[in-house]
Amino acid sequence: MKIKKAVFPVAGLGTRFLPATKASPKEMLPVVDKPLIQYAVEEAAAAGIELMVFVTGRNKTAISNHFDKAYELETELEHRGKIDKLELVRNIPPAGVNCVYIRQAEALGLGHAVLCAKPIIGNEPFAVLLADDLIENNGRGCMEEMVEIYESHGRSVLAVEEIPLDASESYGVVAASEVVDNVTRVEGIVEKPKPEEAPSNLGVVGRYILTPRIFDLLETVGRGAGGEIQLTDAIAQLLEHELVYAHRFSGKRYDCGAKLGYLEATVDHALQHPELAEDFRAYLKSLNL
Ligand code: UTP
Repeated sequence: MKIKKAVFPVAGLGTRFLPATKASPKEMLPVVDKPLIQYAVEEAAAAGIELMVFVTGRNKTAISNHFDKAYELETELEHRGKIDKLELVRNIPPAGVNCVYIRQAEALGLGHAVLCAKPIIGNEPFAVLLADDLIENNGRGCMEEMVEIYESHGRSVLAVEEIPLDASESYGVVAASEVVDNVTRVEGIVEKPKPEEAPSNLGVVGRYILTPRIFDLLETVGRGAGGEIQLTDAIAQLLEHELVYAHRFSGKRYDCGAKLGYLEATVDHALQHPELAEDFRAYLKSLNL
């Protein structure tokens, strides 16, 4: 089966970014000039995904407005002859993509947010992208790589990266067999283990391909770490029924849910931005850091 649908959980409270996230979801934070959610949608579209399912919270309108047609803005840009900007705005939803919005009434955790998408996903494998993990890859996107692995194995796939062990309490960490061609079988998974209890140094980042059995498990898994319904706990149960693969993706991930990662993404993207790179580099040099 092809991966045609992607879930974007965007209903978190974003407490690490308050006050910026008081009235707008953190996924609308821009890295230079594009919101995080747009980078993630473009990555999914590049992987051949056609239906984008947003699980939204209390500030849902910013995201749906971003992907909707903006008649007034477009008319105004046309009147002013700003054709390049008009094209930019018109191309925000990638060609051939449809968007659906579902409400997560209460922020009960990532696992619960994914479960909210069940009526739209139905009985087929699907992708999950956490837009606050921005993954930069000069070649193929991370999701495109994962779709290819799904197509050859027909199993769930988790994106992983090597993490410093003292950071294990910020990740789901997998126990894995030997990594061959950047793919390995997941033997176990634990949410936010203490460094001495971490089964490896492979931390799960915000890209998943999941088989629909995950929904049955999410319905019964109950609350885990932090009192939230954890996707990791349901994946741990999935391992009792099915093989799950982990993919050590190429490219660089920025944890834009944290201020430092967000700043790193901003600096790196500004240094590659065609309009900004030269002046920004000169500015950084002038700081004599
Ligand atoms: P985080 O763990 O980063 O939590 O969520 P958060 O609430 O967004 O941010 P902080 O920690 O308070 O700063 C990981 C992803 O899961 C989504 C978030 O939007 C983010 O993409 N999420 C989390 C939901 O959609 N619903 C939830 O109930 C929890």
